[in-house]
Amino acid sequence: MGGYVPAAEGGAGGGRGRGARYPPLSALVVSAIAAFSAVIVLAVIHSAYDDALSRTRTLLGHNLEPTPWHPFPHDKGRPSARTALRCAPSVACLPPLSRPRPPPQATNDASSSSSSAPPGGKPPPRQCPAYFAAIRRDLAPWRRAGGGKGVTRALLDAARQRASMRVTITGGGRRLHVDLYYACVQSRALFTVWSLLQLMRRHPGRVPDVDLMFDCMDRPAVNRTEHEAGDPASPPPPPLFRYCTTRDHFDIPFPDWSFWGWPETNIEPWSREFKSIKAGAKATKWADRVPTAYWKGNPDVASPLRLALLGCNDTNLWRAEIMRQNWTDEANAGYQHSKLSTQCTHRYKIYAEGFAWSVSLKYILSCGSMALLIEPQYEDFFSRGLDPRVNHWPVSRGPGMCDSIRDAVDWGNANPAEAERVGRRGQRLMQDLRMAAVYDYMLHLLTEYAALMDFRPAPPPTAQEACEGSVLCLADDKQRRFLEASAAEPAAEEPCVLPPE
Ligand SMILES: *[C@@H]1O[C@H](CO)[C@@H](O)[C@H](O)[C@H]1NC(C)=O
Ligand SMILES: *[C@@H]1O[C@H](CO)[C@@H](O)[C@H](O)[C@H]1NC(C)=O
Ligand SMILES: *[C@@H]1O[C@H](CO)[C@@H](O)[C@H](O)[C@H]1NC(C)=O
Repeated sequence: MGGYVPAAEGGAGGGRGRGARYPPLSALVVSAIAAFSAVIVLAVIHSAYDDALSRTRTLLGHNLEPTPWHPFPHDKGRPSARTALRCAPSVACLPPLSRPRPPPQATNDASSSSSSAPPGGKPPPRQCPAYFAAIRRDLAPWRRAGGGKGVTRALLDAARQRASMRVTITGGGRRLHVDLYYACVQSRALFTVWSLLQLMRRHPGRVPDVDLMFDCMDRPAVNRTEHEAGDPASPPPPPLFRYCTTRDHFDIPFPDWSFWGWPETNIEPWSREFKSIKAGAKATKWADRVPTAYWKGNPDVASPLRLALLGCNDTNLWRAEIMRQNWTDEANAGYQHSKLSTQCTHRYKIYAEGFAWSVSLKYILSCGSMALLIEPQYEDFFSRGLDPRVNHWPVSRGPGMCDSIRDAVDWGNANPAEAERVGRRGQRLMQDLRMAAVYDYMLHLLTEYAALMDFRPAPPPTAQEACEGSVLCLADDKQRRFLEASAAEPAAEEPCVLPPE
């Protein structure tokens, strides 16, 4: 279980600060088992029915052998083979998603109020947010190699060692195949496959053909020191996509599942969640917010940082209130007390990483309070847009952490207008992180990656084609509600333009 836990928490950000949106271990395990049993299924390689069972090749995975680096409690709650194949008859894919692209003038009609284009003219190209520049940095190791075509089959095979699935997009960005190697906790794999299908729906015919390895567990795996070695003749690192990276890793960050919703903790798809947090934040004006720092979350996520944070729980001494969230209780109470939209009551909100990056960062920043970020070690795709003292306030880790929180609060209370502005800029960063921007990031990342491949993508024989119908078929009722709520529509505007190199 040890391996499992951190995985579940970390990614999730575990309960990171925010709110502890994250369940305690026990609840995570329970919900993970529930989620697995609902989802598992899929699977299926019709012709090799029995064989498939023993080899456990399921789109959702869970009856797979534990991987050496993070074993699953996969023997618990495993459904019978029959149950696992519940969806088999309906797994046949629906027709590939393809909706015609909207005519260009759609962007100029009256409904797109923000467009300032002259009637009939093309709207000026929109620059992507500055943090999109990280795409090229993330992919730099493969650009240097092989005359700029550094992603080879051999490297992809090497990345497989650490991947939970191989994703192949072909047919001019219209067909998606998944070769699943092992299960991901909760419904991450399901939601990540969904996110790619929605990208294809949003940008029909524009998603490049790609072949990539994805891991949906928490911590980065491709160690920079081990793969760089300072030797220009050495091969580039294995290209591996996941939800986060660090400066010491080569893993390629990709938007995490929570943007499409996190049913296990009742967190809605990002577009809805942001709207509701922002509305909740309006209810308490800055002047009425409690002038101390607040964190609510699950400290039991194998995170020494969060445990240390408990030691700062003293509003007089450290100006901080640290609350423990019990996810078992929360789930039993129907998540009524864990709503993110009711947690914008303090002027300062603390962000503390869990086992790895935490999905809570975006919810914390959305409040418009000044976010106190305890020196993050992990980066996700948008956290490269964080700018210290501009849209958040840095707090140091280590022995002086409580003092550092107190100093930040004291500074903010001495400079309330500036502190409020920092909070607003953080909220603005989140407002600009609309789903349109998330999809644009995915599109640019895959496009830049595809340009580095030195072979033509083709799904391996063991892969299954995934489509909206098959993903929905795997989902339980709650997951289905989240998936449907996060469905994309074809873009009415061109993707943003990457900043020049
Ligand atoms: C990377 O590998 C080196 C050498 O094996 C090791 O010293 C270092 O701690 C590793 N870094 C990370 C971030 O795991
Ligand atoms: C922090 O202190 C408050 C007030 O004393 C208390 O209610 C709360 O339970 C404490 N938090 C933790 C995690 O112990
Ligand atoms: C959470 O609440 C449940 C049920 O009330 C209890 O059994 C469990 O011990 C609590 N967990 C923690 C970490 O306090």
